[in-house]
Amino acid sequence: MKIISVVGARPNFMKIAPFIKAIDIHNTKFQIPNSKFQILNTQEPIPKNQDQTPNTQYLSHLLVHTGQHYDIRMSGAFFRDLGIPEPDINLEIGSGTHAEQVGMTMIEFEKVLQREKPDWVVVVGDVNATLACTVTAKKELVKVCHIEAGLRSGDMSMPEEINRLVTDRLADLLLTPDRISIANLVKEGAAEHRIKMVGNIMIDTLEANRERAAGLEIEDIIARNTIENSKFHGPAPTPSLPQLGEGEREGAVSFAVITLHRPSNVDREDVLVPLFRFLADEVAGTMPLLWPVHPRAEKMLRQFGLWEEALAHPGLMMLHPLGYLEMLRLNMDARIMLTDSGGLQEECTVLGTPCLTMRWNTERPVTLREHGGASVLVGNSIDKIINEFLETLQMPRKPMRPELWDGKTAARCLEEILSFKC
Ligand code: UD1
Repeated sequence: MKIISVVGARPNFMKIAPFIKAIDIHNTKFQIPNSKFQILNTQEPIPKNQDQTPNTQYLSHLLVHTGQHYDIRMSGAFFRDLGIPEPDINLEIGSGTHAEQVGMTMIEFEKVLQREKPDWVVVVGDVNATLACTVTAKKELVKVCHIEAGLRSGDMSMPEEINRLVTDRLADLLLTPDRISIANLVKEGAAEHRIKMVGNIMIDTLEANRERAAGLEIEDIIARNTIENSKFHGPAPTPSLPQLGEGEREGAVSFAVITLHRPSNVDREDVLVPLFRFLADEVAGTMPLLWPVHPRAEKMLRQFGLWEEALAHPGLMMLHPLGYLEMLRLNMDARIMLTDSGGLQEECTVLGTPCLTMRWNTERPVTLREHGGASVLVGNSIDKIINEFLETLQMPRKPMRPELWDGKTAARCLEEILSFKC
């Protein structure tokens, strides 16, 4: 059986890493010199085995990177941190409008499919690569498996919601992280035999890397990633107060982390300027605020004349986008996370980091406090954010593990592909 898996943008990498590892583990039974976490070149002859039932088939695998994210900090660092093999094929589509990214990916991916003729295409998440490669594969009559199917925010102004809807309408096998996602798919009319709940594959990566991340020093992360000219000179960030022993609390200041990248938060001046004022005046006045800046947010901070102030602020630590292990390390000890990222909401839930989600809706309701998670939706209204911020600061860390977020999702994904019957 031949599988092509697809990545394009940063949130894909931590989802594909455990899946590739699961393929590698599956293939070890063939005793091929396929060293751990390496993909065989498709030119190599596929070894014959007696029994050709799906579970005992050798899996030939190719990793395709569409190239939507291409910077070392947005892409390469994740391959290195997570031990993902170099992509077999890079479509190098780069930045552009949505139509440009999707259109160019389809044109290039069609050539790959026609040449490689895979049995399955595996897509993850909700980025433009997910949509483009699903549509292309279905038109080439290739089966598609969507890992992280069934998430719905109901917000059609989010490009990701459009990507999710189209992908799930077309994909053959819909692998969901939770029961709410199953209900969403059933409500939309997906046949039940296409839907399987497997848990959250990103948590496989979190569990596999917890110990390595714990070994990183926060001050080293800051030293490696501080943006030139960032003038932070507040007290050094320390681990969250509740985690420190009695004697260690004196002088400990803890820290907050902010990440912003959604167009709805960063592209509009009337939204970003008040958000920035809240972060600079309220949060960074209370405790050190670490801000790993997404390229889109940096561009807009510059455009709205806030960049120099951000760099000069004594309580704001402006950082380059962080690697996976570095971000996980900060998340393990942050007093509070402020974010508009879906993945961080999930990681905060498992780690127990109190999280203010700067969106009006979420496709990940299991991460919300009303479902036992760590996150609360605060949108981008400053009054609401300030109230919740003050309240959230009083909250203890409370880790929560939704059903099947157990670090073993990738093996279940592969099992479902191997046993899938049309
Ligand atoms: C994309 C995903 C989003 C995901 C996010 C994580 C879609 C529709 N959106 O949004 O779901 O949460 O990735 O980052 O697929 N840029 C660089 N270097 C890079 C890549 C991009 O500087 O390696 C800059 C470019 O100026 C680009 C901007 O970042 O225009 C935005 O990148 P883009 O790929 O359009 O989308 P994201 O906002 O990153």
